[in-house]
Amino acid sequence: MAIDAKPFVKWAGGKSKLSSTILDFSSTKLDFDDFDTYMEPFVGGGGMFFAVANQHNFKKKIISDNNLQLINTYKVIKENVNGLITELDKIQNEFNALPSMDDKKEYYLFLRATFNKHLLSDNLVKQSSLLIALNKLGFNGLYRVNGKGEFNVPFGQKKTANLYSKNNLHNVNHILQTTEIYHLDFRDTIEFVDEKTLVYIDSPYRPLPGTQAFKYQKSDFDDNDQIELAEYCQEINHRNGSFILSNSDPIQKDPNDFFFDDLYKDFDIARIDARRSIGATASRRGVVSEILVIGQ
Ligand SMILES: C[S@@+](CC[C@H](N)C(=O)[O-])C[C@H]1O[C@@H](n2cnc3c(N)ncnc32)[C@H](O)[C@@H]1O
Repeated sequence: MAIDAKPFVKWAGGKSKLSSTILDFSSTKLDFDDFDTYMEPFVGGGGMFFAVANQHNFKKKIISDNNLQLINTYKVIKENVNGLITELDKIQNEFNALPSMDDKKEYYLFLRATFNKHLLSDNLVKQSSLLIALNKLGFNGLYRVNGKGEFNVPFGQKKTANLYSKNNLHNVNHILQTTEIYHLDFRDTIEFVDEKTLVYIDSPYRPLPGTQAFKYQKSDFDDNDQIELAEYCQEINHRNGSFILSNSDPIQKDPNDFFFDDLYKDFDIARIDARRSIGATASRRGVVSEILVIGQ
């Protein structure tokens, strides 16, 4: 039976829309079925992960992210999806029964305060239900935190809570049964790579020249991290593994910004038009282009 799992949260930089373009283009360079292990060290909402896992049968799948709350939610969906659904139903019913938008906003702020009070709680089911609820009810599905690591996204003015699809959570649960889940910095995932491993790398985007970085968590992902990420890619290569990496293309804003071209000069670099299909060449035309690096 074919599985059609989809992200259970909306995530900044989510690749659901772009996944088929990236997959189609990557498939012209490498054969996914040649690999035993598929790994994503920056899984986020899993836009790419689910698209790949729905289509391919790897012996092993590994996902990781340095967002603890998000990773705990993946673990809960893997281990106790029905417990999570019970908690989500409770929140959903309470929210939908409230008569006014003021009441709904107050309830949202209560959920947010509860989430922030229990960032290190052992009650992972409850905490995961709060993460999903805040993601669905907060402004624009963002996950943004303040300097203390507290979630601070305002209420999204939603009238009705529609927190999850039961069918999708069960599909995600199914895919996760054969997936190892880690809360690691990307650098610590290198140990999983061997010659039969394909790694999809979707780090926080380098801000385009003249724009601000999107802050996922307390620490930024700066140019130094990008340089260490390129070293990580070199190490994948030394281990004879393969990788696909996406990022924003600085050339679209500054034709002289060769940051990624320099970092990845030993690998295959392509530019794709994020709004078009298969690998349309997008450089220097003022369109939203993405850089795709393929190392094998
Ligand atoms: C662009 S998003 C990934 C989006 C994902 N492909 C999707 O479709 O939703 C980048 C992710 O990297 C994570 N991250 C940031 N710094 C990290 C680090 N040093 N190590 C591991 N993960 C990190 C963030 O928490 C975020 O989830």
